[in-house]
Amino acid sequence: MKPGITISPSVACADFRHLEKDIRTLEECKVDFLHIDIMDGTFVPNFSLDFSLMRMLREMTSIPLECHLMVVNPERYIAKTAESGAQFITIHAESTFNVQRALVAIRESGVRSGIALNPATPVNVLEHILDDLDMIVVMMVNPGFAGQKMIPSMLEKITRVRKLIDDRGLDNIIIQVDGNVSIENIPLMIEAGATMLVGGTSSVFRIDHSISESVEAIRTLIKKHKSNQDQ
Ligand code: DX5
Ligand code: ZN
Repeated sequence: MKPGITISPSVACADFRHLEKDIRTLEECKVDFLHIDIMDGTFVPNFSLDFSLMRMLREMTSIPLECHLMVVNPERYIAKTAESGAQFITIHAESTFNVQRALVAIRESGVRSGIALNPATPVNVLEHILDDLDMIVVMMVNPGFAGQKMIPSMLEKITRVRKLIDDRGLDNIIIQVDGNVSIENIPLMIEAGATMLVGGTSSVFRIDHSISESVEAIRTLIKKHKSNQDQ
C-alpha cells in the first residue's frame, strides 16, 4: 500500500539562534519526521549536524528522526546513529562497496533502512536490494548544500523509481525527495511519485514566510494532489 505523503523538515536549515523554538513550531505543525543531515567533508565537501545534536533532539522532541548519512563507509556509523535515536538511517549507494550488507546492518540495529541516489546514479542500482529497503531517496540536487536548484531530469527519475517498486508490489517503500523541494517543485515531485518531502530553505525554512505558513502551504499542495487523484 503506497504510504501517505509526509513532511520531513531538514534541521540543518533551521535557525540555530533559536533551534528549540523552531522545533516547538514544527511540533505544533505536526510534521511527520525531522531530516538529520550528517556530512563528513569527504563524501560531500561540507559538514553539518552530528550525533550529539541528534541526542539533544531525541531528548527535546518525540518527532521521529530520519538520518541522511552523507559519509564514506557509513557502516562505521550505523550503531552510533541508531543509538542517537534515528528511526530511519539512509546511506548513499555511492558511499560503500558493501551496500547490501550495510542495509542489512541498519535493519539489524532495529532501524528502518534507506538508500539515497546521487543525481548521476542510475535507478538500476536498486535492482537487487529492494527487499532490504524501507525508503529510497532521490537526490534532486548534488548532496551537501542547501539552497541549490533542482536538476530537472530528476523528476523522471522519481517516476522510474515509482514504476520499479509498484511493478514489484513494493509500493510500501517510501520515495523521499531531498533538495530544492520547493513550493513550485512539490506538485511535480508528488505527481512523479514522491511520498516523503524533505523541507529545507526552499520550503519549510523559507526566509520570507513563517514555518507554520510554509508547512500549511505544503499541506495544501498535498491535499490538492490527493483530490486530483480522487477525481
Ligand atoms: C541537501 C540537503 C537537504 C536540502 C536542503 O544535501 O540534504 O537538506 O537540500 O533543502 P533546500 O535544497 O530546500 O535548501
Ligand atoms: Zn538530506
